[in-house]
Amino acid sequence: MKIISYRELKNKNDLLPIMCLAFGWPFTYQEFGEIARIDPRLKDSPIGFCALEDDKVVGFAGVVDLTTKILDGRIENAGGVWGVAVLPSHARKGIFTALMKTAHEYFSDNGYRFSFLTTSQSMIAYNFYRKLGYEDAIEFPSSYKFVEKKPSRKREKENELDLEKIAKLYDDFTTDKTGIVVRDENYLKILYKREKIKPEMILLDKNGYAIFKNEGKLLRIKEIVATSIEETKKLIRSLEHKAKHLVFDTIVLDGKTLKSYESLKYNIHKRSYGLIMVKKLTNNVTFKEVYGENFYMTSLDWF
Ligand SMILES: CC(C)(COP(=O)(O)OP(=O)(O)OC[C@H]1O[C@@H](n2cnc3c(N)ncnc32)[C@H](O)[C@@H]1OP(=O)(O)O)[C@@H](O)C(=O)NCCC(=O)NCCS
Repeated sequence: MKIISYRELKNKNDLLPIMCLAFGWPFTYQEFGEIARIDPRLKDSPIGFCALEDDKVVGFAGVVDLTTKILDGRIENAGGVWGVAVLPSHARKGIFTALMKTAHEYFSDNGYRFSFLTTSQSMIAYNFYRKLGYEDAIEFPSSYKFVEKKPSRKREKENELDLEKIAKLYDDFTTDKTGIVVRDENYLKILYKREKIKPEMILLDKNGYAIFKNEGKLLRIKEIVATSIEETKKLIRSLEHKAKHLVFDTIVLDGKTLKSYESLKYNIHKRSYGLIMVKKLTNNVTFKEVYGENFYMTSLDWF
């Protein structure tokens, strides 16, 4: 078995079988390449490592360079692992272990102190990550509510994508938070492009905004940011009028937002299957010492 970086891979289409089998992702390298060229998390990274056997890709581990904020307010880069998979025909031969080792070497060479990944406790990979030294960092509380109202047919005035205002509201909201909270307008544009966010998927108010996706009967909240509980509740109520059946927010890492959901009688799960795991790449610090208790990200920051 040979390991090469995604950038060295001659035929990028070779990644399709793994991505399709493991994640149901119909990987198109042209579309992915367009995002990878501009996404700051990918544009200077090897993008991932591929395990080759007989010149075919049999395993993959994606890597991103995350920009995070730490407890003392400084910006610190960290590693992020994504899209890890090995073809079932090549499982249990140590390919995952070798790919993860290569990813960690890349992060260590860059001087990163931590490697992060998002996974689920219900996946077999969870225990393999633990074996490699990953620990649970943050579990994702989630909230949902069934709405019985008919969605409003009222045409609302279309928002301009006021990225400057959105970026300002987000900055104020995350002042006392650490984690994946470093953004600028340009990065926002890239996030929206990647997530295919259109202006009609954003509710923007004077003191807050919500980004959502209507997925059939489900309205999924991607991000909700507001200066007060009252404002958050106002945004949530407006979203309920847009939902056909269910409003769902899968990552609620802000205490005030969680309280807002609670007071609107949402079903809250303080623990769900999804979580962030972290591995220390150096021995002299812990995750809590560096990031404290307010590590934050939203569904938009998923990697
Ligand atoms: C998770 C996955 C990448 C593991 O790949 P792999 O190449 O088979 O893993 P390895 O051979 O390196 O084995 C890693 C460890 O898990 C153990 N292991 C692997 N497959 C196992 C299985 N099916 N049951 C029990 N243990 C298993 C190995 O024995 C090894 O432990 P050891 O080091 O103590 O011997 C692979 O199962 C996969 O692609 N799963 C689907 C995609 C996925 O869930 N990705 C993770 C998304 S977060």
